[in-house]
Amino acid sequence: MKVLAVLYKGGEAAKQEPRLLGTIENQLGIREWLESKGHTFVVTDDKEGENSVFQKNIVDADILITTPFHPGYLTGDLVAKAKNLKLCVTAGVGSDHIDLNACVDRKIQVLEVTGSNVVSVAEHVVMSILLLVRNFVPAHEMIERGDWMVSEVARNAYDLEGKVVGTIGAGRIGYRVLQRLVPFNCKELLYYDYAALPADAAKAVGARRVEDLKDFVSQCDVITVNCPLHEGTRGLVNAELLKHAKKGLWIVNTARGAICDKDAIAAALKAGQINGYAGDVWNVQPAPKDHPWRTMKNPIGGGNGMVPHYSGTTLDAQARYAAGTKSILENFFNDKPQEPANIIVGIGKYETKAYGQR
Ligand code: NAI
Repeated sequence: MKVLAVLYKGGEAAKQEPRLLGTIENQLGIREWLESKGHTFVVTDDKEGENSVFQKNIVDADILITTPFHPGYLTGDLVAKAKNLKLCVTAGVGSDHIDLNACVDRKIQVLEVTGSNVVSVAEHVVMSILLLVRNFVPAHEMIERGDWMVSEVARNAYDLEGKVVGTIGAGRIGYRVLQRLVPFNCKELLYYDYAALPADAAKAVGARRVEDLKDFVSQCDVITVNCPLHEGTRGLVNAELLKHAKKGLWIVNTARGAICDKDAIAAALKAGQINGYAGDVWNVQPAPKDHPWRTMKNPIGGGNGMVPHYSGTTLDAQARYAAGTKSILENFFNDKPQEPANIIVGIGKYETKAYGQR
């Protein structure tokens, strides 16, 4: 079979650090294994445009492996051209870069390594909440500049204790964020999700469900976004919704960039309507050099905690998603059943309930 993988370029770092398994250099550690079984393995980071290695090779690939970190966007048009494609594997979590509806129609299965990096992301979320609330980035930048003016940074630094924190999406990551926030003694932990948490799980973290999004937003000091990107969540956090937010809201989005409206966020931060925005996901990846989220600031010069998409690709996570990818491929080659939690699209239908209510 022909296996095509779109991974990110690792450069010198990948040569020096073999545990960077998600790179084109280290190839998820599966080249030898695939070739020993007689399969062809094409690996590239060249993914944009019809002459890219990705788009040229998708036409006769049997299996496509992608990662959310450097997404090979499998559009409906490419699905139509991919005559041999049977299986898409996301090495990580989050398969919105694949046209899932087109895969349903064409009976192409889409699997991901569910759970592989949920702790990695949850830790990043807690860190990002703290760095916004405590105004960490400007304080560190001041030190690097050689300055020392405590009032300049303390004027916008708060405690997380006593604040209301809410998660949009209380699945694997959202719930782990809530668990990790318990010791901070927040005033309240809220969640907004069309799937209610089991009563004992909600009780264990003391989380209250709010069923109306505007109502939810109006109660939060901090919002963390932890739902997949799908038709129902694209642009969910937009100018209209932000009108209902408390002034000075902090937002952390490590789910998908396009869940938050790019321009509405930049404008709200600039106006001081929100006090901070942090995360690692962008509406286009890699983000263009002039993307407003790279440099946007609140009126007193802070409130930006953006980084490249790496929260779910710690070295620990890479070991897990590389192993998970291999096991999905093994099951596929040997006609063995897949782990049910890994199946996003099965043969001709969605198997997950997380990509919208159907
Ligand atoms: P999950 O499937 O365990 O949980 C997702 C939750 O979102 C579910 O409870 C679902 O009901 C809820 N949801 C779906 N649509 C919603 C809506 N319209 N409103 C409110 N809630 C909604 O998924 P998991 O593992 O927690 O991952 C969530 C997302 O995080 C992934 O789909 C991916 O986009 C992102 N992610 C980001 C990573 C990174 O490196 N930044 C790494 C891993 C995941």
